[in-house]
Amino acid sequence: MIPARTRHECDVCLIPCFDEEVMAEDIAAIRALKRERRAIILAHNYQRPEIFHGVADIVGDSLALAREAARADADVIVLAGVHFMAETAKLMNPDKTVLIPDPLAGCSLAESITAADVALLRQTYPGRPVVAYVNTSAEVKAASDICCTSGNARKVVESLGVPEVIMLPDEYLAQNVAAETGVKIIAWKGHCEVHERFTPLEIDRLRLTHPGVVVLAHPECPPEVVAVADFAGSTAMMADFVRREKPARVALVTECSMGENIAAASPESEFVRACNLCPHMQRITLPGIRAALETMTAEVNVPAHLFAPARAAVERMLAVG
Ligand code: 13P
Ligand code: SF4
Repeated sequence: MIPARTRHECDVCLIPCFDEEVMAEDIAAIRALKRERRAIILAHNYQRPEIFHGVADIVGDSLALAREAARADADVIVLAGVHFMAETAKLMNPDKTVLIPDPLAGCSLAESITAADVALLRQTYPGRPVVAYVNTSAEVKAASDICCTSGNARKVVESLGVPEVIMLPDEYLAQNVAAETGVKIIAWKGHCEVHERFTPLEIDRLRLTHPGVVVLAHPECPPEVVAVADFAGSTAMMADFVRREKPARVALVTECSMGENIAAASPESEFVRACNLCPHMQRITLPGIRAALETMTAEVNVPAHLFAPARAAVERMLAVG
């Protein structure tokens, strides 16, 4: 069910209001196309509410989407998210057609590093295992030893049982994981353009203007922000926290759609807006999903020479649990 928003809510929120008539028509068309094509839609937690609640079959964080992609029973997977997520779905489903409604839906982290950079890091720091955040291209995954997401980064790093690792490309995630684990981490200077903008001052102001607010931050935020938050975790971990703890007031220091999506299931919590929009995630729209299923484009493929090593890095991560 799509949560209704009043005009007032639309005026104060950053997510554009939708035209309900157009939306209903697109939703009906997408549902029919899913049946016709034997397609499922995997949607990231940052997708617009009409996608998250209206047409998605599976929603979740990057880890859940990678896991669900691995067990998808369908001929076609539409990835409502960004390009690296669609590539991961393809790696787990070589025989299925994987579509992304807008191939330009990228990620500042994935774009910050190449396989040549990974080779240079290995040369500079020989013998250290390379942990690649899933927010990377298939070529970077192929050049790495194991993947991680924000939901399992700590577990993955600890599973390696070594005192020092290379972790890329998110400098802040690496610093946050180093603080949690005590493992020395050689980081890359990539940043998420959404999370790098949050500051501790913003959180202080939030606490002053909204007494009692519980602040949840994504670990892609700078360590100074994570340090003043009440909890840090992946998008799914934040959603679980709200469901479990039922805070009277909560601020999700992350992408704006996240709060929109989970607010409907947590009416007892007041969601204080403290978010930024991801321009890449916002490229995915209902008309875009409908067009993708109608035209069966854009198909996502991984070059043959990268397939096995990139998949192995994802599989090693999934085996950690
Ligand atoms: P999650 O894995 O926590 O869903 O995060 C993905 C992402 O792109 C966050 O910016
Ligand atoms: Fe990439 Fe940041 Fe957007 Fe996530 S929110 S897809 S990390 S740019």
